Amino acid sequence: MRRPPKPKRAAAAATFLLSLSLLLLPLGFVATHRAFSSGVAAASTSTAKRVLLEDDGHANAAAAAEHAAAVERHCAGMLHRDVCASTLATIPDLAQKPVRDVISAVVARAAAAVRASASNCSAYLRRPAGAGALRVRDRLALSDCVELLGHTLAQLGTAEAELSSGNRSAEESVAGVQTVLSAALTNQYTCLDGFAGPSASEDGRVRPYIQGRIYHVAHLVSNSLAMLRRLPQRRRRGREALELEGYGRVRRGFPSWVSAADRRRLQQQQVVLVPDLVVAKDGSGNFTTVGEAVAAAPNNSEARFVIYIKAGGYFENVEVGSEKTNLMFVGDGMWKTVIKASRNVVDNSTTFRSATLGQ
Ligand SMILES: *[C@@H]1O[C@H](CO)[C@@H](O)[C@H](O)[C@H]1NC(C)=O
Ligand SMILES: *[C@@H]1O[C@H](CO)[C@@H](O)[C@H](O)[C@H]1NC(C)=O
Ligand SMILES: *[C@@H]1O[C@H](CO)[C@@H](O)[C@H](O)[C@H]1NC(C)=O
Ligand SMILES: *[C@@H]1O[C@H](CO)[C@@H](O)[C@H](O)[C@H]1NC(C)=O
Ligand SMILES: *[C@@H]1O[C@H](CO)[C@@H](O)[C@H](O)[C@H]1NC(C)=O
Repeated sequence: MRRPPKPKRAAAAATFLLSLSLLLLPLGFVATHRAFSSGVAAASTSTAKRVLLEDDGHANAAAAAEHAAAVERHCAGMLHRDVCASTLATIPDLAQKPVRDVISAVVARAAAAVRASASNCSAYLRRPAGAGALRVRDRLALSDCVELLGHTLAQLGTAEAELSSGNRSAEESVAGVQTVLSAALTNQYTCLDGFAGPSASEDGRVRPYIQGRIYHVAHLVSNSLAMLRRLPQRRRRGREALELEGYGRVRRGFPSWVSAADRRRLQQQQVVLVPDLVVAKDGSGNFTTVGEAVAAAPNNSEARFVIYIKAGGYFENVEVGSEKTNLMFVGDGMWKTVIKASRNVVDNSTTFRSATLGQ
């Protein structure tokens, strides 16, 4: 972090050599034609060289310190701080860039990481049949990953366009970028989820080779989201309509196609419902995973059994067997409780292909 960025130093050195040779060119010419002045010329050249070197050294040290301070400032309190620091270390003129441009640069790095990750996955898919051939499940999971990474790339492109265009108010555009980056973030977990087989030992063959790159993408996106919080945020207003992927326009926490009467009923129901079991990631409920709660729910129940799932992302394969009748899931709201549920993992369908439960 302390050292100056390499490309910059290399560029500075090249500039220095170039200006030095341009300086020596006329001097050499003068020296051959006017021999008596060569001593003077040599003396002035070495002085010029010393001055140049000192200026360069000072400027480099100051720029490096400024750059390091900017890295510290931007990465402070970040969940994936190391990834943040190594990304920002190579962004030119970091100290002079407004936060919006820094986010844009991180999003661009994430897009490059997505491309690398997609080609890593594709390389495994091209593996020929025969010895060491892919299992069906791994092949399916890999194709899902390639498709999901394609979605991520498109979403990052939208975020970049939004960040660089001045079409909307700053607050509006931050909200748009936030939505699209949040969607981009979950793709990577959905991809990795596809490899989880019925038993842990099934995880083994391909996932370890691709997950490092996939996590790197997720961490870069997560960092961009964290940086986004430093930009002016839109104040929450009840009447505001928000566009959410897969849901359409959302008003007061409900998609706009839900009628006012239904909305009231649903809102009322949430207040009246008393959960039979509570799932919470932080351990404040009866269980920490949805799967455990489903297992604990009564078989063939004739009464409604309500499982309340507190806010959080539950990336697990939830199998709800047909004996689990009258089961109802209640979440903390859209984008607060998200379950990626796979109905079945043995019929060649991955999590991504099967239904996803939200709220
Ligand atoms: C995929 O990336 C991992 C490291 O992240 C590397 O070990 C592996 O060789 C790569 N595989 C292919 C097929 O490119
Ligand atoms: C901004 O507006 C221009 C011209 O109206 C349009 O072409 C461009 O797609 C818009 N950009 C975004 C990110 O909406
Ligand atoms: C679930 O937790 C609540 C509150 O802690 C408790 O009253 C209830 O008995 C628990 N239910 C089960 C089935 O453990
Ligand atoms: C439901 O049935 C399965 C077997 O079909 C059994 O293993 C499980 O313990 C039962 N669960 C409850 C809550 O009764
Ligand atoms: C899953 O795919 C394999 C290979 O294509 C096939 O042999 C098997 O019957 C499929 N299983 C199901 C449940 O469709």
